[in-house]
Order: sequence, then structure tokens, then C-alpha cells
Amino acid sequence: MLDQLRQVEKEALAALEAVEDSDALAAWHRRYLGRKGALTLFLRSVGELPKEERPAFGRAANEAKARLEAASEARAEALRQEEMQRELERGALDVTLPGRPTGPGHLHITTQTLRQITAIFAEMGFQVYEAPDVETDELNFGLLNMPPHHPARDMWDTFWINDEVLLRTHTSPGQIRVMRERYPEPIRVILPGKCYRYEQITARSEHQFYQVEGLAIGHAITMTDLIGTLTEFARRFYGPERRIRIRGSYFPFTEPSIEADMDCILCGGAGCRVCKYSGWLEVCGAGMVHPVVLQNGGYDPDEWSGFAFGFGVERPAMVKYGIDDIRLFYGNDLRFLRQF
Ligand code: PHE
Repeated sequence: MLDQLRQVEKEALAALEAVEDSDALAAWHRRYLGRKGALTLFLRSVGELPKEERPAFGRAANEAKARLEAASEARAEALRQEEMQRELERGALDVTLPGRPTGPGHLHITTQTLRQITAIFAEMGFQVYEAPDVETDELNFGLLNMPPHHPARDMWDTFWINDEVLLRTHTSPGQIRVMRERYPEPIRVILPGKCYRYEQITARSEHQFYQVEGLAIGHAITMTDLIGTLTEFARRFYGPERRIRIRGSYFPFTEPSIEADMDCILCGGAGCRVCKYSGWLEVCGAGMVHPVVLQNGGYDPDEWSGFAFGFGVERPAMVKYGIDDIRLFYGNDLRFLRQF
């Protein structure tokens, strides 16, 4: 039996050499490896052998089958290569033809929104300053008037990298960086960038998102300048008829602190689903830069004053374009992205 098997394998390999096209290869396959192929029949006949011969013969037959399959794969590949070579020689395959064009793509909705925002603030005299995403505990919290264990740290659930390093939870640490770099110049900057919070992802909140921080430091800057700046921004971004309202709030790095709301752009203040029937949409947190923060930045609070604000970028885009799920910004679904 073993001799017969060897004989068949040898014959099959020789036959394979003579195969010149894919039809012949298919026929070869049927003849040796198909359901009624020579090798298959061998394998089936194992059961008829005396018990002690079965394992050795079964193994030999399986190995022969694997060798033939590998050989036929190699032959198929060689045939493909030969076919391609023939086509090239015939000139049927023109490798000098240009490839299929891919679309040029366009800017992501977040980038577009960020650019609109920066353009508006640029017109108001604000420069752009970029600060790192990976921050120290000291800059993200400590120098912003939140020493270790300060309860206000709980307002920002944090991705820690180690005991001292973290992913910034807001763009505010950039305030300290600009002040330390620019002192004793007056400052008027915005700080756009990504922030990270260790939070549940829902339709309304992501664990990564963009913020734009604003910082103005000078000799006679007041809350009026802050409110004026925010109102002007809202009108240029959402439309000239927008109104702003101010509420008292709390942030450790501003004093006094406020939150600004804008009348709902959908219902104009009457109340709807988007504004949760309050008539108002939250715009940002803001306030006058806290004396301790001014000092940490190198500015003497007796001589200097300033305002700061911070707001998200995806939320305004959601309001403006009627997007109801923040996760779409990070889903990379072209059906969404192509709409903007
Ligand atoms: N950093 C604050 C936040 O992320 C926003 C803020 C910025 C508040 C600047 C006041 C001044 O919630």
C-alpha cells in the first residue's frame, strides 16, 4: 500500500509539471485531491487495513496530501505570474495608466469650528497659544489655586499617568505657561486644544474633547471687558441677535467667577428640547483671574488684573449644526463627516 501511495504521489507531481493553465489545474485537482481523487481514495481505504498498519499509513497519506496541496498552490501562483507576464508582453496591461483618483478629503468638523473660533478672536486681537496635552499636577491644579487634596479637584475626573503627570482636564494650565513666558507684557491670547476627563462616554459627553481658553492680562481689565468679549464672540459665531446672561459661579482660579449662558438659538428663549425648556444654553465658565494665579504667573495682582474663560468646542458645533450625539465627532463615520 505504501509503495502504491508513493507511486501515486510521484505520478501526481509529474502531472502537475505538465499543467499549463487553470483549467488543467482544476482537472488535476479533481483527479488527485477531489472527492473521488486518487489520494482521497487512499485515505478512505485506511479503514480496510489491519489495525496495526492504520496509523502509519494514515499519517503517510495525510502527509502526501499536504505536499500535493502545497505543490498545487505553488503551481497556481506560477501560472498567475506567467499569465501576467504574457499580458504585459501582449501590451494588454498598461502599467503607465494613472491610478484611480482618491478624493482630496476635507477638514474635520471640529477643525472647521476651531478655525471659525480662532478667526473671530483673532479679529478681536487675541493670539493663539498652544500648550501641551500632557501636563503636571502642579500646572493643571496646584498653580491654579488647587493645592493637593483641594476638594475642587473633584470637579475634574482625571486620567493620571503617574503621581505627578496627567492628561490635562482643561486648557487652564496654559494660563500659567503664557504668563510665565510673557511677563511683563500685557496678554491677550486664546489657548485651543484637547482635554481629557475620566468620564463615562454618553451622547453628551466624551472623555476627550476640545476646549478654547481665553486669557487677557492688563492694567485696567474689568468684568465688563469679559462680558463684552463673550457677547461679541456669541454674536459673531451664532448671529447678531444673540443675548448673553451672566450667573455667579465658582472656580478656584477666578474670583469672582461666572458662567455665561446664551439665549437658545433654536427657540429664541421660548424653551425647547435643545435648551431643556430653560430658554438658555450654557456658553462657558469664566471670571477675573484670581490674585494667587496672577502671582503664580509672575504678575503682581496689585498692578495687574485680567479675565479668563474656557468653553468646549464640540458643544457649540452641536448647537450650531443640530448634531445630537457628541460621539459622532470621534466615530470617523464618513457619512457623518461628509456633511460638513
Ligand atoms: N477650566 C474651566 C473648566 O474646564 C473653565 C474655566 C476657564 C473657568 C477659565 C474659568 C476660567 O471647566
